[in-house]
Amino acid sequence: SPLHQCLHDLPKCEHHLHIEGSLSPSLLFRLAALNSVPLPDASIDPSFTSPQTLEDRYTRFTSLNDFLHYYFIGMSVLITSADFESLAYEYFTRAHADGALHAEIFFDPQAHTHRGVSYTTVVQGLSAAQKRAEKDFGLTSELILCFLRHMSETDADVHYQDAVSLGHFSDGTVAGIGLDSSEVGFPPEIFREVYASAKAAGIRRTAHAGEEGDSSYISRALDICQVERIDHGIRLVDNEVLLKRVAREKTLVTMCPLSNVRLRCVSKVEELPVRKFLDEGVRFSINSDDPAYFGGYILDNYCAVQEAFGLSLKEWRYIAEGAIEGSWCEEGRKKELL
Ligand code: HPA
Ligand code: ZN
Repeated sequence: SPLHQCLHDLPKCEHHLHIEGSLSPSLLFRLAALNSVPLPDASIDPSFTSPQTLEDRYTRFTSLNDFLHYYFIGMSVLITSADFESLAYEYFTRAHADGALHAEIFFDPQAHTHRGVSYTTVVQGLSAAQKRAEKDFGLTSELILCFLRHMSETDADVHYQDAVSLGHFSDGTVAGIGLDSSEVGFPPEIFREVYASAKAAGIRRTAHAGEEGDSSYISRALDICQVERIDHGIRLVDNEVLLKRVAREKTLVTMCPLSNVRLRCVSKVEELPVRKFLDEGVRFSINSDDPAYFGGYILDNYCAVQEAFGLSLKEWRYIAEGAIEGSWCEEGRKKELL
């Protein structure tokens, strides 16, 4: 449709994409066989009978934790640098086909090092894919190192120090840090020290906040961890003062509509605060989160918002420009994107 083409042609940036969440059930089964990684026995969890039964299970997540159970099993098939490279290159290929020009992607090093895959193996594969995507499609990208909030602050710091000592924050290999996994019960302030070190070193900072957790997770991420971005942030609507502050400070909120529906944070896209954010001047971007698990890539998420809210082209341009402004690429690249 003409509208679909308009949304495709908008200069889009993706800011909330877990690269491990772009692993499709079919690739998951192929890599499990190739790398001899055992999957759960289908007699215990019938979802693991075939790629199709797994795909079906992904339509019935009941919560963030229910999803995370499958997400961590899924990524256990990723072993070599080549696995990470092909995963990321396939994602970039799809993002480019959707009309994305720039992508800032999360990765979860702790989920790999704790099963014997080194940080360097992961980053080498991802970096190789980034270079190929820029050369082949002109798609620019950044990596954001996420800490798993269900693990200790000490473990987060070990991984942070690894990246620091390899020079990855200063040579541009990794653009910043983030915080993901189970939210409720794992508030941002647990990680205050690693965030303070990152701030002192001039490293970019974001955190998932206000996805399943209440709006105090957002204010604590801002006040205690001094994040520059909020991932999800949909609970902002419950705190008018905080919402106005986020608008005033031009903090980018990275929304993930299809994710929020699949994880039952809302019952339908119409319930998301898209209209509210536009009216109040909250800067936000629209993203896919874990596209292989949540039923859509970036353009699917744009289309879902359009179907729910019927925005004008002017409003879409405002969203696209805000997303470019909130990106962590160089100023020169931002000018090219606008
Ligand atoms: N929330 C928290 N952790 C995650 C998510 C999410 O949506 N996706 C992958 N890890
Ligand atoms: Zn996420």
